[in-house]
Amino acid sequence: MESTRSYLINGDIWRDTGGNIIHAHGGHILFWNGEYYWYGENRTENRYVSVYASKDLMNWEFRRDVLTTASKCMEHRVKTNLSLITEKGKKINIERPKVVYNKKTGKFVMWMHVENGVDYSLAACGIAISDTPDGEFTYLGAFNPFGYMSRDCTLFVDDDDTAYFISASRDNADLHMYRLTDDYLNVDELVKKLWQGEYREAPAVVKREGIYYMFSSYCTGWAPNQCKYATADKIDGFWSTLTKIGDETTYRTQPAFFLTVVNTGNIYYFSDRWNGKDYDDSRYVVLPLRFGDCGKPILDYQETVTIS
Ligand code: DGJ
Repeated sequence: MESTRSYLINGDIWRDTGGNIIHAHGGHILFWNGEYYWYGENRTENRYVSVYASKDLMNWEFRRDVLTTASKCMEHRVKTNLSLITEKGKKINIERPKVVYNKKTGKFVMWMHVENGVDYSLAACGIAISDTPDGEFTYLGAFNPFGYMSRDCTLFVDDDDTAYFISASRDNADLHMYRLTDDYLNVDELVKKLWQGEYREAPAVVKREGIYYMFSSYCTGWAPNQCKYATADKIDGFWSTLTKIGDETTYRTQPAFFLTVVNTGNIYYFSDRWNGKDYDDSRYVVLPLRFGDCGKPILDYQETVTIS
């Protein structure tokens, strides 16, 4: 067993409470019933997505591989690709899983980026569903929203429980924002096409004091680049142009998601420090997001972090 820790070293190997390496890349944290659930990519063996749970955000207990090649599949919509393995019996590729809770249906809904395991030509989004945050998710298939390409993605649930799926489209040239149906199981409307021709990926959204912030990276494969952010007063309204934040490699990171801590309201930038040569050795960097005059976000580097 790992002993209780009070800080995490950015870019170091992070282990769960059982002493095993945490595989939750390109992930997302959901707060539910007093616990935080950290979902993310796990590409080891037959795994796709794993979940870890924590009450203090510092010590993470492995709960389950929630999506694997053996996960149950269920038909949900017409024209979804329901296969979790290729025709040749190989793994497909699942990236950037995000999980939210739907109050109306009581279901936990995962959206993710799905590829064929060979290249990035499928450019589809996928959905999975579960009755509990750390139960086995049932895969509902992959599809191209309204026929569009869909790669790097994020989910955002607004204060009125309306959910939005944001993903890179047109070979990553544009970021699309889709409002989801009430059950979060389909796209209802394409509400924005953002920063056309700017090639933004790894989108992450956070809302603070009525302002929406979206961070994103440029497209350079696994190599880090300059993160930029934009703001909006209405999520489906006017978004500002892109402004640089952090240094030219964003401290060798790419955005994964933002975490707003429930009691303190503190906001953290969760990011991946990818290892393109050895994916499974990719690391995490978590930095507090501070705000200056007029809500200007500030992202400074620090070697260690205490998430509180
Ligand atoms: C950058 C993306 O953000 C990652 O999720 C992954 O798709 C890599 N590109 C692959 O090169």
